[in-house]
Amino acid sequence: MPRFQIRPLRSLEEFRACERIQLDVWGNLAVGSELMTVTAKYGGAVIGALAGSKVVGFIYAFLAQRHGRLIHWSHMMAVEPRWRDRGLGFRMKLAHRKLALGQGIKSIGWTYDPLESRNAALNIRRLGGTVDEYIENCYGRFPSRIEKGLPSDRFVVDWRIGSARVARRLVNNQRAVAGFASLPRANETRGNAQGLLENCGLHLDLRAPRVAVEIPSNTDTLRAKDLRLALRWRLETRKIFESYFERGYRVADFVPPHLASGGRCFYVLARA
Ligand SMILES: CC(C)(COP(=O)(O)OP(=O)(O)OC[C@H]1O[C@@H](n2cnc3c(N)ncnc32)[C@H](O)[C@@H]1OP(=O)(O)O)[C@@H](O)C(=O)NCCC(=O)NCCS
Repeated sequence: MPRFQIRPLRSLEEFRACERIQLDVWGNLAVGSELMTVTAKYGGAVIGALAGSKVVGFIYAFLAQRHGRLIHWSHMMAVEPRWRDRGLGFRMKLAHRKLALGQGIKSIGWTYDPLESRNAALNIRRLGGTVDEYIENCYGRFPSRIEKGLPSDRFVVDWRIGSARVARRLVNNQRAVAGFASLPRANETRGNAQGLLENCGLHLDLRAPRVAVEIPSNTDTLRAKDLRLALRWRLETRKIFESYFERGYRVADFVPPHLASGGRCFYVLARA
């Protein structure tokens, strides 16, 4: 087992390793080593996870502005598939938080696909990020291996890195979501003949203070097996999130498979 190290990346060789990870994870290159060099030097963060001396994951973030405040915008994060679920994503986010706080930054923003439950577990549950914006087809139908040509809808995460809420969440993410079992559900679901999860009823006008939304816990597999069903998930959850966001609800928490029953997972929306 190699020793893992999390630290800012500095050399062209390390930035080239990030290019290779992008090609491996998404199948295309979004941020080249040239841009990484200037971002790391003149405002922003390029943070790596290294197994021994090999870069196996990275975060790329630049200075940005949102709601009139200076923030870090974390445009990319990836960990090579074989090194996932070992806490490297979490540790890179912690390193990024420390670096940004040191620059006087109070918030880090990024987008992610709301149907990727691993990302939800990390971004919402583990890190305590919240979501107040939904963007339809954010990057167009870009040729990502993960997206498989589906519309690239995204949640926008607001990670208030200086807040007491986030500090609490970083040390304890194992508590159950109080009252979760009795929350009304915005979608009814069932397993289909192939054993894949599908919606069988949407409730877009619930008025409870908190509402649960189920998503599949295996979206990548579902997309590989049934792209039509994957498109249905995209369009149906778009409808759900947009209609609740319009009525003042926000993503407040996420219940990952190990805290919900039967390997299922749920967002918890709360009225602001
Ligand atoms: C998102 C990504 C960077 C996370 O990296 P990672 O090193 O695996 O992250 P961590 O191990 O710190 O956290 C993963 C969490 O997901 C949980 N998880 C694993 N499989 C899951 C699933 N199917 N559903 C829900 N949660 C799951 C893990 O248990 C872990 O939570 P825990 O720490 O509370 O146990 C990595 O999955 C990746 O590169 N994905 C593809 C690219 C991408 O989506 N990038 C982000 C958007 S730009």
